[in-house]
Amino acid sequence: MITTAFPDSFINELVARNDIVDVVSGYVRLGKKSGSNMFGLCPFHSEKTPSFSVSPDKQIYHCFGCGKGGGVISFIMEIENLSFPEAVAFLARRANMPLPEQEDARESKKRSRLYALNRDAARFFYEQLSAPAGERAREYMQRRGISRTTATNFGLGCAPDDWSALEKAMREKGYTDYELFDAGLIKKGRNGGWYDTFRDRLMFPVIDVQGRVIGFSGRILGENGPKYLNSPETPVFNKGRNLFALNLAKKSKNGYILLSEGNIDVVSLHQAGFDSAVASLGTSLTAEQARLISRYTGQVVIAYDNDAAGQKAAQRAIAILEKLDLKVRVLQMSGAKDPDEFIRLKGPEAFARLIEGSENQIEYLLAQVAKKYDLSADAQKLDYLREVEDLLARRPSAAEREIYCRRIASEVGISPEVLIGEVTGRRKRILRSMEKAEGRGSPERGSQPAERQLRYDDPASAVAEEGVIRLLCRDPELASAPCLPAAEEFSSPELGHIYAVLLARLREGRSVSADVLGGELEQQEISLLVNIQQKPETLANSAKALDDYINRIRQRRREKTQGLDPMQIYRQRKEELEKQK
Ligand code: UTP
Ligand code: MN
Repeated sequence: MITTAFPDSFINELVARNDIVDVVSGYVRLGKKSGSNMFGLCPFHSEKTPSFSVSPDKQIYHCFGCGKGGGVISFIMEIENLSFPEAVAFLARRANMPLPEQEDARESKKRSRLYALNRDAARFFYEQLSAPAGERAREYMQRRGISRTTATNFGLGCAPDDWSALEKAMREKGYTDYELFDAGLIKKGRNGGWYDTFRDRLMFPVIDVQGRVIGFSGRILGENGPKYLNSPETPVFNKGRNLFALNLAKKSKNGYILLSEGNIDVVSLHQAGFDSAVASLGTSLTAEQARLISRYTGQVVIAYDNDAAGQKAAQRAIAILEKLDLKVRVLQMSGAKDPDEFIRLKGPEAFARLIEGSENQIEYLLAQVAKKYDLSADAQKLDYLREVEDLLARRPSAAEREIYCRRIASEVGISPEVLIGEVTGRRKRILRSMEKAEGRGSPERGSQPAERQLRYDDPASAVAEEGVIRLLCRDPELASAPCLPAAEEFSSPELGHIYAVLLARLREGRSVSADVLGGELEQQEISLLVNIQQKPETLANSAKALDDYINRIRQRRREKTQGLDPMQIYRQRKEELEKQK
């Protein structure tokens, strides 16, 4: 991911001093045409009638033909073929502005101080394990069967039961209260004084793949407070972008990453020899974490908790991981609630057998369906088969479809040819209706992005996702609306990314012009965003409109996870539309 090292204020001034009409006029002959926009022949695709527009008011360009769009920086990036920082330097030269190098250096110095502070804090917590203040943590580790060696491998530590032990120790090392606060290690009390964030907790340092301590997760030892406390988001710590213990797991020779839910599970797994275990930090798996995993392995074994929440989380994780073409298997533990308990009760060998016998994603999904039905009753068999057919019809591999058709046919006692025939027929229908949903004559017509390099998997959901983004741009107050979706709920990864970046900025009260976003979004995403902003939207009741979009996104997700027949959905939607008329 690209990040900008330029402050918003600098970019805003740069843009103010490089009027987009002036800059573009250096490359394109612009004539005044409709409304407040100027039009010219698009420099990015060949055309005979002008569809390239520049808006002096909004300081953006947008081509109705090829879908390219953005602010003045994007324009220079595209036309001069420059990276974001290069285009910024180009425009700074053009406007005779010095580049903010000092700012740059200050930012990076601040970050390296934060890394150093986190490392020193981790060292302090670790030392407490051998000090009298670490008594409780030592006892606790013993009770949970965590050895001293394991504690050292993970750099586990103890936050003493004290309001300022860490603050004092870090001040002695020369860190200021402000630095400690920025790192989330101290908080401000009601009387205006500072107090340690982590007290009386077993400390798990979170270490990134470069080996830097970026934050902490602290498990409660006493009774006060939540079971786990995590560092807040800081300039060096982002929960959704890191995985606990990936720094260790990336060195494993296992050939797969073992994904579990809890810190304690990870520690127990490593101790038992499963050195590729990681956990997401108290959130459900994000697309960014999945991408991170895919850098190290092609295979993931999910070992989530055995309860309903864990199983649901597993299904969500499968969907996210499959998108990145990762092979996914899911462990089915019985007689234990999580991997830690399983290993304690049954031993590492039993866990190894579990991994060997673990189900691949399709087996897992089939087993989830089978659980719902009593297969000794003929009537239920039919419902079961209908659901299974639908599941299998959506698998892209013909070999896979056939293997599982044969297996299920023999389980249910029908001929495999019949089942294969049903599945093949259903697959054809699904594909046909998908084509239809994308093409002419459907309510989704025209919903693919104009930017040709992008394709939506689910245009129906993408329309609503675009709507959410458009509303947020027009009415920034909506960023604090309740129940906004998570970026992972978006069906399009590009729209999800744009949304996440927008939301983070809006919540910090920062600007979201195409120009400042250029440092955080890909060029394609900028074009997409400008396109989205061009489409009409009424602002009469934006909260209600936002709600409708969100419901639509969630509805699509439900339909997809329930594997409803797209044809059926299509008909339902047509009916709805007709009712509205
Ligand atoms: P668990 O409650 O399953 O914790 O939460 P655990 O790690 O298995 O610990 P034990 O075995 O019950 O002692 C799973 C993960 O969810 C996050 C933590 O990262 C935890 O490891 N979590 C849990 C929080 O962030 N906050 C909480 O209050 C609870
Ligand atoms: Mn647990």
